[in-house]
Amino acid sequence: MKSLYGRQVPEEDYELTRVDPGTPMGEMLRRYWQPVCTSEELTDLPKRIRIMCEDLVVFRDKSGALGCLDLHCAHRGTSLEYGRVEDDGIRCCYHGWKFRTDGKCIDMACEPEGMAATMDVWQGGYPTMEFGGLVFIYMGPPEAQPEFTLFDIIDTAGRDDVVLRGLKLWQDHSLGWVRNCHWMQHVENALDPWHLIVLHEMISGDQFNSVLTLGDWPEMDFEETELGVRYNLVKQLPNGNWLERHSEVILPNIVLVANIHQRGEQPIWREKATEVIWCVPYDNETVYGICICAWPAKDGVPDPDWKPGTDTLTEIRPGQLRERTYEDKQRKPDDMEAQEGQRRIPIHGAENLGTVDKGIGMYRRKLKAVVRAMRDGQDPPNLVRDQAPNGGFETSCWNTVTPPDERPSVLPEG
Ligand code: FES
Ligand SMILES: [Fe+2]
Repeated sequence: MKSLYGRQVPEEDYELTRVDPGTPMGEMLRRYWQPVCTSEELTDLPKRIRIMCEDLVVFRDKSGALGCLDLHCAHRGTSLEYGRVEDDGIRCCYHGWKFRTDGKCIDMACEPEGMAATMDVWQGGYPTMEFGGLVFIYMGPPEAQPEFTLFDIIDTAGRDDVVLRGLKLWQDHSLGWVRNCHWMQHVENALDPWHLIVLHEMISGDQFNSVLTLGDWPEMDFEETELGVRYNLVKQLPNGNWLERHSEVILPNIVLVANIHQRGEQPIWREKATEVIWCVPYDNETVYGICICAWPAKDGVPDPDWKPGTDTLTEIRPGQLRERTYEDKQRKPDDMEAQEGQRRIPIHGAENLGTVDKGIGMYRRKLKAVVRAMRDGQDPPNLVRDQAPNGGFETSCWNTVTPPDERPSVLPEG
């Protein structure tokens, strides 16, 4: 036995793990528009948010303008989540200072007339935008603010066959949950196709009711894509057809997952993912997921009969529920138990990576290279400065099904 006595736990890899303001990874993630909530969540009440260890308030004033400001009022710190949304800003509940969406204080209820103009107080904040039913903020240096990065699967210009929906499900452990672990642990799960077979089939039973987990073990490898890293999976299905499947991680914190319900009954060509999923650090040890789904339209509205490709947008499989008994979690662990069980913050130095972890290694090395290049003044990848590509950035995540005599060539045979 190798006794644990006197063990020394390696330090976490701070360059990758910390997202507080001023940290290398925190600065990198702040160079991108990050989603904070769905458009539907902004009602006549302000919404308190936390992202990358910063507490903020988001609101839509009664003229329709969006604002994202420091949570604590510039007067004496009361939380603006208790503020009143008005026609032209948000008014703090305590002494009535009112801030426009750009942060300028335009009224001080208890002060003499003209005092707001004289004092010229500004509540700090961040630029906001909306796209596809989500609200995004930009937390990086103002001079480096990019355009929104649009991907092909959510570029609906000239299309009326889909409508975009911003979605999350906060209470349950599914897409849109707050997961009690580091954000990279969730991203890395998408580059880990082996766990589909071990965790979701061998250990916990057929959690997906999917051909992915049935029959022979697949063949797999990983490769870099234009936007990040993907896995390449080839598997002969019980019906003899071949499945070629990919999941893609787009740097720095986006995950694409191809339809997990694909049964492979008919040949299909590049059935692309329909959701762009952001895994956003709430803080250093908590992550939330939120997505834009290109939902097929029926009579101009989202088709109620369509089933999304990731299993958690409309219904939640039992293993994804946070409220389960401890025994049930032990007997049938799911992604939550596996990912949260890796520690709140990963200790990469304590891991022993094998061949199945090649994609994760590629992803971490890429992140590290980007963080270091930024230190040397370079722009991180997948940002749009002037002209976005026509049709959006091309993603590389799909299912293809071919007949028995047409083995996909994405992997060499044997
Ligand atoms: S604390 Fe906000 S107005 Fe006084
Ligand atoms: Fe999983």
